[in-house]
Amino acid sequence: MQKDFRMNRRDFLRLSGTGFAGLVLAQFPNIAATAQDIEADVEIVLTAIPEQVQILPGQTTSTWRYIAEVIRGDPNSVQSTPNSYFGPILRFRKGQQVRIHLNNQLPESTITHWHGLTVPETADGHPRFAIETGETYTYDFQVINRAGTYWYHPHPHGRTGPQVYAGLAGFLFVSDEEEDALGLPEGDYEIPLMLQDRVFDADNQMVYLPNGMMDRMHGFLGDRMMVNGQADYALSVEKSAYRLRLLNGSNSRVYKLAWDDGTPLIVIGTDGGLLQSPIEKDYIMLAPSERLDLWVDFSTYPVGTSLSLKSLTFSGAEEGGMGTSEFTILTVNVDSDATSTPATLPAQLSTPNFNDAPNAVNAANPRQFTVAMQAMAATINGQSFEMTDVDANEIVQAGDLEVWEFINPPSSMGRGMGRGMGMVMPHPMHIHNVQFQVIDRQIDPDFASIWDTVREGYVDGAGWKDSVLLMPGERVKVLVKFPDYTGLYLYHCHNLEHEDLGLMRNYRIE
Ligand code: C2O
Ligand code: CU
Ligand code: CU
Repeated sequence: MQKDFRMNRRDFLRLSGTGFAGLVLAQFPNIAATAQDIEADVEIVLTAIPEQVQILPGQTTSTWRYIAEVIRGDPNSVQSTPNSYFGPILRFRKGQQVRIHLNNQLPESTITHWHGLTVPETADGHPRFAIETGETYTYDFQVINRAGTYWYHPHPHGRTGPQVYAGLAGFLFVSDEEEDALGLPEGDYEIPLMLQDRVFDADNQMVYLPNGMMDRMHGFLGDRMMVNGQADYALSVEKSAYRLRLLNGSNSRVYKLAWDDGTPLIVIGTDGGLLQSPIEKDYIMLAPSERLDLWVDFSTYPVGTSLSLKSLTFSGAEEGGMGTSEFTILTVNVDSDATSTPATLPAQLSTPNFNDAPNAVNAANPRQFTVAMQAMAATINGQSFEMTDVDANEIVQAGDLEVWEFINPPSSMGRGMGRGMGMVMPHPMHIHNVQFQVIDRQIDPDFASIWDTVREGYVDGAGWKDSVLLMPGERVKVLVKFPDYTGLYLYHCHNLEHEDLGLMRNYRIE
């Protein structure tokens, strides 16, 4: 950890109108100095800052967003995203040594987490490293993950929900040689799609938790769909093949994705990169923080076709009002013939080197983590988040292969309470610093009918994951190999309101 310079708001305002990075280097020569000391292939200044954005017609919206500038290395490492709160896209290569200076220009403390990446403890964005207004935190890490759709977002204690809601989130794409060799659609044919829901008031301002405490317990649900920070998102495409890279960047909403004309979804990748080979699904569940790489061939549609990606109804989340109605996420307009030869879908996408479940050190006796939402406490195994607290059951050994089992018990008020007395809701569980395989799911018989509305939409077993949807009454086993980076990392529910209420714990790699 380095808090290597401070910049006050007046300095920032003076700097921000002009070439920001160059001026940062001139005014804060210690950045330039450290850059020469340690070899970084890419060095970026990432600033979190309030900004007015034109989202809806009329009044602009107050947002918080990330802006980024490359100060060393490939200028294409940052793809800016103007006129939106949608964060800049960071593009790294596997093997690159990366340095990122996070500059906090928000009116409160923050820290950024690289979701899905395996990084040293000090680069993971744990809430204990949060920095105050005007401070900078420097991350140094090597990109050791395989090609995939990763992302970044704030992670300060108790404030992740409001900060992501205000607009702080972006994609982090990693590429590698294995992916290059496939010739997947790129450039205009590779489309990032960050799905979020929001509520706007009459003055076009985003409203967080309109119903107060009840919203915190259920999680935030908006009534307006936003894609890449824009409302009523419409995509104009050619009669060609596309790679759609989806992220559920919503605070709490779970989507049940499907094309409105019944065309199956073709999945080529999940959280941790490409699958072994493409799979087809009629619908797919996408819970907060999950990613999905889709292949779509629009050449089969006549020019002039309009189709839409929908979220279908499902059960198991009615208490908060989720899943009860179908709605449109985005519209695709097939506007013209292909201007270049469409890419073809490879039959074989990758060799993902899966872990071997029987060899897990605790195969016979998985570590169990029972999730509960009670009136005032959100817990894992009965405990809420404490900044540096680690239980005996939360210590693992570097390099070990383990089975972890997440349990969403029939009554989340705890064992022994009848169904319906607790809060019956989904919990998307996420583990920092690893990619795992989902190896088993089981459902409590009382919840089987709920489960039937979602179960065909899981993309399990076929690829790497760092987040997994845990429906009411469900138990999910994941197979995890812990990396060699030792230290304190997090695992938590990625319903951000649950996370902020304490449905999060540390685990330690020794
Ligand atoms: Cu998206 Cu703790 O992470
Ligand atoms: Cu994470
Ligand atoms: Cu939860």
